[in-house]
Amino acid sequence: MAPSNCNTQPWETHVVSGDKLKILSEAILKANEAGNISPDFSFDLDHYYGRFKERQFHQGKTFYGAFGVERGDKEGRNEAANLNYKFFNAPHIAIPFMPSFGDNVRVGGDIGMYGQNFLLSLTAHGLSGIPQTALGFFADTIREILNVPDELKMLFGISFGYADPHAPGNSFKLGRDPLSRTVVYHQ
Ligand SMILES: Cc1cc2nc3c(=O)[nH]c(=O)nc-3n(C[C@H](O)[C@H](O)[C@H](O)COP(=O)(O)O)c2cc1C
Repeated sequence: MAPSNCNTQPWETHVVSGDKLKILSEAILKANEAGNISPDFSFDLDHYYGRFKERQFHQGKTFYGAFGVERGDKEGRNEAANLNYKFFNAPHIAIPFMPSFGDNVRVGGDIGMYGQNFLLSLTAHGLSGIPQTALGFFADTIREILNVPDELKMLFGISFGYADPHAPGNSFKLGRDPLSRTVVYHQ
C-alpha cells in the first residue's frame, strides 16, 4: 500500500534467490573488478556538504571500523564494500525497478516510499533488510541477468532475510540527529 504520485505505482520488483542469486552476485563482482559500471543515476560523494558530509563521514568511519578496516587500508575497504555485491550473505534480494519520467525526482520519491514500506513490512514479519544503492552502479549487468528491459531503471536493491546479530554490520547503531535539529515548527 505504498503511496505514489497519482497512484501510478511506478515499480516492478524482481525478487532473486537460490542459484540465480549466486549468478547475479558473481556477475556484479566481475563487473566491479573490471570497473564496468553502468549507473542509471549519477552519484558523487563530493556533492555532500556541511552537516550532510559530517554524517556521511561518521557513517563510513563507523561501518569500516566495525570490520576492523583502518583508514588507508584499500584492500580491507574493498573487501568490506564488496559485501554489497554478496548481498551481505542474505538469501534474497528484492530490486524495485522503475520507469523513467522526466527528471525522475517524483518517481525517485515514489520508489523511496515503496522501499521504506518494504523494509517496515520485513520488520513486521521478524525479517530484516538492507537497502543498497551500491547495486545501482551495475544496473546494466543486473538488467541483463534478470532479463529486464532497458526502459526500467534501478536505484537500489534490498537484501533481506533473518538478521545475523553477530555480523559486523549489525554491531553498531548510527542513530539520528534529535528532532530539534531536523524539524522546524511554525505556528
Ligand atoms: C536509499 C538507500 C541506499 C543505501 N545504500 C546502501 C548501500 O549501498 N550499502 C550499504 O551498506 N548501506 C546502504 N544504505 C544504508 C545506510 O547506510 C543506512 O541506512 C544509514 O547509514 C543509517 O543506518 P541504519 O539504517 O542502520 O540506522 C542505504 C540506505 C538507503 C536509504
